[in-house]
Amino acid sequence: MNALLLAGGLGTRLKPLTETLPKPMALIANRPWLEHVIVHLKKQGIQNFVIAVKHHPEKIQNHFGNGEKWGITIQYAMEDSLKGTAGAIKNAERYLDDRFIVVNADIVHEIDLNPLLEFHRKHGGNVTIGLTEVDDPTQYGVVQQDGAGRILRFVEKPRLEEAPSRRINAGIYVMEKKVLSFIPPDREVSIERETFPLLITRNAGVYGKVISGYWMDMGTKDRYRRIHWDVLNRVNNLPIPGKESGKGIWLGKNCDIGPGVLLIPPVLIGDNVVIGERSIIGPFSVIGNDCVIGRNVRCSETIMWDRCKINDATHLSNCIFGYDLEMGSKHILHEAVMNRMGVLQA
Ligand code: GTP
Repeated sequence: MNALLLAGGLGTRLKPLTETLPKPMALIANRPWLEHVIVHLKKQGIQNFVIAVKHHPEKIQNHFGNGEKWGITIQYAMEDSLKGTAGAIKNAERYLDDRFIVVNADIVHEIDLNPLLEFHRKHGGNVTIGLTEVDDPTQYGVVQQDGAGRILRFVEKPRLEEAPSRRINAGIYVMEKKVLSFIPPDREVSIERETFPLLITRNAGVYGKVISGYWMDMGTKDRYRRIHWDVLNRVNNLPIPGKESGKGIWLGKNCDIGPGVLLIPPVLIGDNVVIGERSIIGPFSVIGNDCVIGRNVRCSETIMWDRCKINDATHLSNCIFGYDLEMGSKHILHEAVMNRMGVLQA
């Protein structure tokens, strides 16, 4: 059984970080999320991966190659135009085993696959949708199920009192290959809006099972930040690189921390980071590898990716910076989301 990772979307809501980067390659705790997913699934016994790519596929291919470095195999299903979440699966058909797993590669999760697979084997249907329970179901497609877990319908954005459950599609599926015959090959098709409702109408055996553990999609800037604060607060168990040198202070290798620097937990500093004297970093900050931070800088609730340079006396709060960003001295920035091109969005 192989796993198909859907990683071709445009990531519009996470622009400008995703201007030239597939969203699943966004760093989570200083490592591309897609790498976390692959490592996690490999630990659960998955050896063979297919990645469905479209938006800047070279960023994924250059990073992972054929997967050898991770002890796995990777094949790439390339799309000539955006195919949507079901169209991308159809496009990858030739690479897929008779039973396979599909993962939306922008979902940050810690799934334990076994209960999902066991449930799938037992019910004997064609699809098992991993479900997650949310506090407020009014913004989602909520499932109604029978006692055996079969999905009867999706209710789109219900009013709270009309929601049949708090369970929503978690973007992780076990599928039998025969369901691909329900997906037209030549156009964009959404699995949520088109394929699952069709399969349910045709009584094709679509079941749902609640997955336990952490779940959050990284689709918006707020949720992207939130995932990091959850990592730093150890709400989830995602690996944090570096040594925990004080409670809630993770420090990478070869860092040069100047005199009078204050690291306020929780904070994660990558490898080879330089921080100039009297700067204050944290709380809630993630500094990528090879960043250089000047003197008297203040940085809180901010995530910066590798190789950023922040000059003296600049104050940052609630910012997200992509790779290689250079920021001049004495700037004050709040809620700036920027990449190297200097595009700024509040
Ligand atoms: P937004 O543009 O911000 O809505 O993001 P998105 O379209 O990249 O992501 P969305 O949440 O809609 O999709 C969920 C997952 O499916 C993400 O991991 C996407 O990369 C992936 N995805 C969405 N559309 C496609 C597609 O046409 N092809 C492929 N290969 N993957 C897709």
